Amino acid sequence: MKLAIFVSGSGSLLPGFFKVEKESSDFTIECVVANRQCGGVELAQAAGKEVLVVNQFDEQLLNYLADHMVDTICLAGFLQILPANFVKNFPGKIYNTHPALLPAFGGKGMYGAKVHQAVAEAGAQETGFTVHEVTENIDEGPIVFQKTVPILPTDDWKTIEINVKNIEKDFYPLVIKGLGEGKIMQTP
Ligand code: GAR
Repeated sequence: MKLAIFVSGSGSLLPGFFKVEKESSDFTIECVVANRQCGGVELAQAAGKEVLVVNQFDEQLLNYLADHMVDTICLAGFLQILPANFVKNFPGKIYNTHPALLPAFGGKGMYGAKVHQAVAEAGAQETGFTVHEVTENIDEGPIVFQKTVPILPTDDWKTIEINVKNIEKDFYPLVIKGLGEGKIMQTP
C-alpha cells in the first residue's frame, strides 16, 4: 500500500501509522497532506515525511499523488469536505476514522471534541470509533470496521475522548493494513 495521510489538526493518529510502516514491508506513507499549518504538519516533518499543505483539492494535487504512486488515502482528523470530483478518482480507496459509532453522532459539523461532547450529553453507555469509506456524503460511506469503547457514569467528554483516541490510534492503521492485505477485520 502506498498511503497519503490527510490531517488538519494535532496529527494524533500519525505515530500509529509510522509504527505500522516500520513493522511492515508493504505499507508506506508516501506523504502527509494538510489543509492548513497544524500540529500534524510538524509531527510529520519531524518524522522525516514529505508534507504538502494545500487547500485546493484539484488536478494539481491529483498529479502530486499520482507522482507519489499513492493508491490509498487515509483521513486522520482531516476536517475539510473533499469535493466529489476529487473523491471519484479514488473509488473505495479513501478511508476516514470517525470518533463515534456511526451512524450515531455523525454528519455535518460533527468532528473531534464536538462528537465526544454530544455523546456525553446524550448519556450514552458506550461509544467507539468507525472506519468507513469516504463518499461524497459526509460520514455515510460503507463501514469497514467499528470498535466499541465503554463509558462509565463518571466519564466526562474529555475522558471519553482520551479513551476513544487511545484505541483508535492503534487500530486505525492496522485496519487499513488489513484492508490492503484483503482481510476484512471483524470487531472482536
Ligand atoms: C480522531 O479522533 C478522529 O476520529 C477525528 O479527529 C481525531 C484526530 O484528530 N476525526 C473526526 O472527528 C472526523 N469527523 P487530531 O489528531 O487533530 O486530534
